[in-house]
Amino acid sequence: MSTLTRRVARQAQSLKIITNSKPKEPYRCLSSSVRHADQQQKQQPTQPQDGSRTTHFGFETVAESLKESRVASVFSSVASSYDTMNDLMSLGVHRLWKDQFVRGLNPGTAPSPSSAQKGWNILDIAFRMLDHASTVNSDPYTRVTVADINPEMLAEGRKRGAVTPYGRERLRFVEANAEKLHMIEDESIDLYTVAFGIRNFTNKDVALREAFRVLKPGGVFACLEFSKVNNALFNEAYKRWSFGAIPLIGQIVAGDRASYQYLVESIEKFPSQTEFRDMIQDAGFLVPGKGWEDLTGGIAAIHKGVKPAR
Ligand SMILES: C[S@@+](CC[C@H](N)C(=O)[O-])C[C@H]1O[C@@H](n2cnc3c(N)ncnc32)[C@H](O)[C@@H]1O
Repeated sequence: MSTLTRRVARQAQSLKIITNSKPKEPYRCLSSSVRHADQQQKQQPTQPQDGSRTTHFGFETVAESLKESRVASVFSSVASSYDTMNDLMSLGVHRLWKDQFVRGLNPGTAPSPSSAQKGWNILDIAFRMLDHASTVNSDPYTRVTVADINPEMLAEGRKRGAVTPYGRERLRFVEANAEKLHMIEDESIDLYTVAFGIRNFTNKDVALREAFRVLKPGGVFACLEFSKVNNALFNEAYKRWSFGAIPLIGQIVAGDRASYQYLVESIEKFPSQTEFRDMIQDAGFLVPGKGWEDLTGGIAAIHKGVKPAR
């Protein structure tokens, strides 16, 4: 049993959740009612009446045109407590996952000997990438563009960026929808990373094709995202933790239960490792090996794709 499994099990115990039987009724966790994955079929989807295209917003079915604004209000609401909540919800493990993600990409090594510009051009995961490039690879050139659709999340990022040694030359923030990166030129990016973002996008396939467009031939798409747990027993404990504790922590710490309920539901709706690997291939990427690396038994996974060199 891994340390995390033990910690999750301990937390579940302390919340008086029984982890080895599946209740037929909705779980009660302290004073709060909890919606579980297997209840999603029973919900009344808010289907649009005009026959327009629909998508998921957590377990709800909503018109595609509404998802962006619903996601925007979640992140506007969680922006100020985002880091604290991540630490509480993942028991700090999200930092280890991000470290492993960046280490595996090793930014700051020369992307290609023929590269006209020095350093890499990276989209997203700003600070760890720049820290790694600078301290591990002694590379003072790599630049990161943080693209996010949400002004409040960008404002938090800018605030944190202001106390790093990286000036505007190396760290830039743009408000942009990952599905329409018009301000980013074709084949201008060495590394496109997205961490815990893509499951919130309305059209993931469109965003993947946009990533393909902006990457240079030989450039890498890398995604860190929640995924599917491989072990049934661990999955049971994990589901009880995420559906039982996370919305409750959101309610107590951030005063916002609904946003954290959406976050756990959006994790549940995200494709499996193989499905997402296939989507990356469908966008045109070559996938190394099996295409992903599981983290903490599949709670999260790192997927990679390489844009074929011409
Ligand atoms: C869970 S946060 C992840 C933030 C950061 N990458 C991290 O790892 O901590 C997800 C982010 O995706 C952004 N997002 C959601 N939909 C988006 C879209 N269509 N285009 C760009 N960003 C989007 C949200 O605004 C939010 O800041």
